[in-house]
Formats: sequence, structure tokens, C-alpha cells
Amino acid sequence: MIAMHFHVVTLFPDLIQTYCSTSIIGRGVKAGHLAVNAYNPRDYCQDKYRKVDDTPYGGGAGMVLKPEPFYACFESIPREPDSPVLLMTPQGKPFKQADAQRLAGHSHVTLLCGHYEGFDERIRAVATEEISIGDFVLTGGELASLTIIDAVGRLVPGVLGASTSLDHESFNEGLLEGPQYTKPPEFRGMSVPEVLRGGNHAHITEWRRQQALIRTLERRPDLLQTAKLTEKDRKFLAKLKESL
Ligand code: ADE
Repeated sequence: MIAMHFHVVTLFPDLIQTYCSTSIIGRGVKAGHLAVNAYNPRDYCQDKYRKVDDTPYGGGAGMVLKPEPFYACFESIPREPDSPVLLMTPQGKPFKQADAQRLAGHSHVTLLCGHYEGFDERIRAVATEEISIGDFVLTGGELASLTIIDAVGRLVPGVLGASTSLDHESFNEGLLEGPQYTKPPEFRGMSVPEVLRGGNHAHITEWRRQQALIRTLERRPDLLQTAKLTEKDRKFLAKLKESL
């Protein structure tokens, strides 16, 4: 059973399909955990020239995506009554890990990609939410859609495989992940911390937690406001701040 269907409305379906047939998401698709379908509004045009955009009312430079092919395309997509429909735009709500977790609970998610010159305001009406992936402007919504498919798709059971744990990664419990090492123990004068080379698992667990707290305090102190912290974490942070 396919757990999660992504439906992407885009003028560039190949961009979506290329990414989603590669690496971990590609494996999730091949294994039948995920499905990614791309739909091109151009295929839903009624006119001879298959025109998807037109000049803006009121004048000005550039072209604007027309509503009719967009609506016809969108209306051909299967969904449940409560399925999220996301419009990609830098004007949207900033995308967070909590959104990825929420979206992973749905069986159908539709993503609408705008185009750099803009879309007719009436296209907004089909979206249940508007999403931004950051305070910068892309040439289209495709990279934003792929970012969301990647972040949500990896949370679908089976996609990462049994050996990979989601429990201790960045943003779980709201903290950044601490440093990781593999062999060799010495590399160009940089050595693996002694505690990781010993076999004391309690010490290793404590060290990792402390490193996550240090890294979060250094790089994203704002995250400490909402992170799930224990009394021990708070004491450690208080000491750390004293020593600064
Ligand atoms: N389309 C263009 N820029 C974008 C952004 N930052 N986030 C989402 N969609 C976009």
C-alpha cells in the first residue's frame, strides 16, 4: 500500500520526476512507500497554442499564470476531503519540521508551483495553505515543492529503512545534532573525542546530549526557547552560560 501520494502541479514535471527517482526518495517510490505524480497545466489548455500565461491587467512587465489551465489541472487530481493543498510562494508561512510531521500524517498532499513572474490571484483560492521555504526568491516553486517532498517523504515509515533512526536527529526535541565521527581516529591532526572511543554507553549518551546543547546554544539559541529540556539540561546550560 502506498502510504503517501504527492501530487505536483508544475510547468516542469521533468524536474520533479528526476529528483524523485533518485537517491532515498527514489528508493521510497520504487519500494512502493511513496508516489510522486506531476501534472502540467499546459496539458489542460483548451486553446490551440496551449497558452499558460498572459500579460498582466493594469500593465507592467512579465507574464502571469492564467487561472483556467491551473484549475482544470488541479481538479483532475485525486484527494481526500481533508488533503492539504500547498501553494509555494515566498509570501507563505515559513516551513518547519513540525509542518513536515503534520503533512506526513496525510495520504495525499498536493503542491502547486508558481512561476517567477507570478500567478493570477484567483489561483490562491484552491490552496489550503501557502508555504515559503525561506526568505529568498526562487525562479519557480519546483525546488520548494521538492524540499517539502523530501522532508515529508523521509518521515513516511519504511523510506529511510529500518537501520536509520529518526529519534536523535536535528530538530528532534528541538535541538541541533552534535558532532559525529567515523574512522580514522586521527585525521590531519584532528582527533575523535576520547569518550566516543571508549565503550561507556552512559557516558556517550550524556556527552552527545551536552554537545547538542552546546551546538544549539552557539548556533541557534532561539531554539532553546521551545526545545524539550530536562532539569539536567537546564543545569548544564546554566553552567555553560556562566563560563562564557
Ligand atoms: N517560490 C519562489 N520563491 C519561493 C520560496 N522562497 N518559497 C516557496 N516558494 C517559492
